[in-house]
Amino acid sequence: MKKRSLVMAPSILSADFARLGEEIHRVEKVGADWIHVDVMDGHFVPNLTVGPVVVHWIKKCTSLPQDVHLMIEHPEKYIPQFAQAGAWNITVHVEACRRPREVLRLIKKYGCRAGLSVRPRTPIEKVAPYLNELDLVLVMTVEPGFGGQSFMPDMLEKVRWLRRQNAQLKPSKQVWIEVDGGINNDTAPLATHAGANALVAGNAIFAAPHSALALKNLRHRAQTPIL
Ligand code: DX5
Ligand code: ZN
Repeated sequence: MKKRSLVMAPSILSADFARLGEEIHRVEKVGADWIHVDVMDGHFVPNLTVGPVVVHWIKKCTSLPQDVHLMIEHPEKYIPQFAQAGAWNITVHVEACRRPREVLRLIKKYGCRAGLSVRPRTPIEKVAPYLNELDLVLVMTVEPGFGGQSFMPDMLEKVRWLRRQNAQLKPSKQVWIEVDGGINNDTAPLATHAGANALVAGNAIFAAPHSALALKNLRHRAQTPIL
């Protein structure tokens, strides 16, 4: 997969879980690139969601890569289970890792791509020591925990910083710059213009009356230059 092409990653957090397979097929048909799976433990964030069993069943219904976003404490405890269930990428929060480098190596050892995420209050420079070992950096543009919140435009500076870092890395070491939270038709072009090349969207896709159409429009808007 080319690292400069735009990845659209619908987040199933806003999908109808009673019809999860249908929801995924709908976005798959119109070119979703990854399925973003938000895992919350009720400690790192004040909400609870899904575990490896859901990744296991999604893997059976789609060949799309699963982009698993762990908003949990002690992520190292659960990496083997998520990897074995079928995660393609596993992103952990830098704030949740005592030794991020070891956690990233564990993710790779289990055959997945490794991502590191920062909450809005965490300086992006915290990821700097790990850039050479990372496949993806996830910039949170809302406080993690819930779908449907408003995009925080101040976070775009973190995206620009990552773009500058990428420019100094070898092509083979470039990281995906992913943005998560409050992405919609207005904010998607701001994120891509700042340098994001992977966009997560939950509400803007699955809470829309026609999720397939919403995804198509969102991609189009994200790729439209800002005048
Ligand atoms: C929030 C999650 C997001 C969430 C985004 O903690 O990490 O992935 O699903 O939802 P929207 O796009 O509705 O802000
Ligand atoms: Zn997420």
